[in-house]
Amino acid sequence: MRIIVLGSAAGGGFPQWNCNCANCRRARAGDPAAAARTQSSVAVSANDRDWLLLNAAPELRLQILATPALHPRQGVRDSPIAAVLPTNADVDHIGGLINLREGQPFALYGSDRVLGAIDGSPVFGVLNPDVVPRKPVVLNEPFPVQGADGRELGLTVEVFPVPGKVALYLENESAGPGFGTQEGDTVGVRLRDAATGAEAFYLPNCAAIDAPLAERLRGAALAFFDGTLYRDDEMVRAGLGQKTGTRMGHMNISGPEGSLAAFEELDVARKIYIHINNSNPILLADSPERREVEAAGWEVAHDGMEVVL
Ligand code: MLT
Ligand code: MN
Ligand code: ZN
Repeated sequence: MRIIVLGSAAGGGFPQWNCNCANCRRARAGDPAAAARTQSSVAVSANDRDWLLLNAAPELRLQILATPALHPRQGVRDSPIAAVLPTNADVDHIGGLINLREGQPFALYGSDRVLGAIDGSPVFGVLNPDVVPRKPVVLNEPFPVQGADGRELGLTVEVFPVPGKVALYLENESAGPGFGTQEGDTVGVRLRDAATGAEAFYLPNCAAIDAPLAERLRGAALAFFDGTLYRDDEMVRAGLGQKTGTRMGHMNISGPEGSLAAFEELDVARKIYIHINNSNPILLADSPERREVEAAGWEVAHDGMEVVL
């Protein structure tokens, strides 16, 4: 199984168009220790021919250009992208579907909640369901991923609910503390190469590691995990916004409630932060926070990173 990180930043990317924070200024200046990153997405293949995209970032057109494995190969119209599965309905994870609108068949997988959000926005009607069949997934039930024509890709996927939040633009302030969040608004993905049995987890959004998630992750070979914020209040402290990570549905990295501490007991062989916000000091190759996560055995995803399992 081959996994290519198409984008590693959180919503807004790095640098973010309107952000003048110290991190974004360094990225904009081309500082090699502050490498620019597009919004989060990975491409996965078990056969090097057919690819599943987990999330479709707004920069998808550029991500495809930068990734030879995703270029057309035969005839006058072709794409190795056989299926797409967004893990939530936030703009950073579905906006790129707009790039895939040229009548090219692929299967669009998702929870009922995520597919409902997509098809509730008329603009995604540009993906004609006759060409881009919607494939609602049953949560917690592994299934073989297929392209639009029903051909299997050699990947088995299990989609499962994780603690999280409804998409930002669907938040309902009057619906209580969860803002109307329902099961399936945020999901994790377990990937399995059907031939070799190699497995990996992809969890770019996750608000907490509860007992069921800890059980799933225990002893895993590889996990990509939500690296949005280093400190829960880092955006508030930097004057970048009013919201904490908790309020945005993200688990921060540091401290007793953070992901660094939570993973200590889980015995995950390879741990990679992804969906990293531009305010997060781990984006900087020369920061003490980067040294800290690396010392704890974590890697920080970058665009173009490849993992072979
Ligand atoms: C998030 O992960 O919190 C979202 O991407 C927020 C957004 O849509 O900007
Ligand atoms: Mn996001
Ligand atoms: Zn910034």
